[in-house]
Amino acid sequence: MPNDERFIIDGLNLPTEQKFLTGKIAVSGAKNDALPAFASSLLFRDTLKLSNVPEISDITAMAKLLEVLGVKTEPKAGGRWELFSGKSPSATLEPDIAKHFRGSVILLGPVLARTGEVIFPHPGGCVIGERPIDLFLSGFQKMGAEIIESDHSYALRAPKGLHGAEIFFKHQTVTATETLMMAAVLAQGKTVLKNAAMEPEVVALGEFLIKAGAKIKGLGSSTIEITGRGGKLLSAAKLTRKIIPDRIEAGSFVILGALAGKNFTVTNLEPKHLESLTSLLLEMGIKLKIETSAITILERATTLKPINLRTHEYPGFPTDLQAPMAVLLTQATGRSAIFETIFEGRLGYLETLKLMGAQAWIHDPHQASLEGPTPLRAQEVTSPDLRAGLAYILAGTIARGKTVVHNGHYVDRGYAKIEAKLRGVGVTISKE
Ligand code: EPZ
Repeated sequence: MPNDERFIIDGLNLPTEQKFLTGKIAVSGAKNDALPAFASSLLFRDTLKLSNVPEISDITAMAKLLEVLGVKTEPKAGGRWELFSGKSPSATLEPDIAKHFRGSVILLGPVLARTGEVIFPHPGGCVIGERPIDLFLSGFQKMGAEIIESDHSYALRAPKGLHGAEIFFKHQTVTATETLMMAAVLAQGKTVLKNAAMEPEVVALGEFLIKAGAKIKGLGSSTIEITGRGGKLLSAAKLTRKIIPDRIEAGSFVILGALAGKNFTVTNLEPKHLESLTSLLLEMGIKLKIETSAITILERATTLKPINLRTHEYPGFPTDLQAPMAVLLTQATGRSAIFETIFEGRLGYLETLKLMGAQAWIHDPHQASLEGPTPLRAQEVTSPDLRAGLAYILAGTIARGKTVVHNGHYVDRGYAKIEAKLRGVGVTISKE
């Protein structure tokens, strides 16, 4: 396929060969913090300045969506961006982009609150699950929006503006919390979000909005209260939003260090965002040195203890690290269990790991188990999504032989300059 970029990894053949990875690998800004930051540009009357934005294709997609809405998006050197929403942004999300890019749902609140309407295509589900938007729609309805659904798209309208509401999320949802919080900032009156998401990205978004004039309480807890400004825009003058470190990229690299590292340091991270991972690695017997903004894997443990892994909303173990962590579990001595509580389609990658030599059993859409340790052998594989794609790269790194990972563009959606970063710590990887 013309756009089939593929990664080729020449594996270390562990544990047969006593090779290891060493050195420093730096984490970029978080995709899932940068996306809501870009969307928030519609809440500002002046230019929003961002720094530490990762150079990944999801950001390019978000910037294109904003340009179509009339927002001026200017990339500057070194991960800086300047975004200016201008006088009257439009309200239609470009269907060809939004259909294939789930992150576009974050725009719904800012566009609706700013323009009084938003028109968007049914957001595609993806391989990890159906990805419904019922919690978004019911939240906007409670805030006074009218929903018109046609066979290809939705229109949400609130010509008289949105009003505050009390919204209870039946599931904790990250992007619905973010987009409804942003809508509430411009609404008339008070909004209370209950069973709200507590992810660091939600907190980072809310804290910046407060600096710019918003009144928000309860960030990081499951109840967030927003006092709306009745349409009065925020000002970002004299402020720059620094995107927080990507905890999923950081965790993926720490897992790589646990698999094959010796004096392997992951830098530019926030350790407290990774406690659910580091506590499990310590339980497995990995020796870690945790510093202010770095984690070092001192050496690869000879025997890894198996664990029971349960994904959970923050501060629990992140679902986005489930697949990378499973690669480590293939090297643990004994039986590990995986319980994926967030998405119903996020275990399929185990079939591919089995082709590479893993012993794994999928019991139902949410539960699996692994028996180790099993040396892995190279395979030609195709990544179904960005996190499984990264897991295949990790597996290929320790396998015997040359692994080819097709659909490399999925990995590029969420991991900036991944092959250069991995080469920097000794991985033999190229992209064709
Ligand atoms: C965010 O997705 C992340 N994406 C995902 O990362 C991450 O896996 C997920 O949170 C969970 O941590 C971004 O932040 C851009 P949810 P989001 O709404 O907000 C159900 C990655 O790889 N739900 O928290 O879309 C949903 O089906 C991506 O970077 C409804 O039922 O996830 C899921 O079961 C993948 N109705 C659960 O809630 C709704 O209206 C949690 O999903 C919305 C969600």
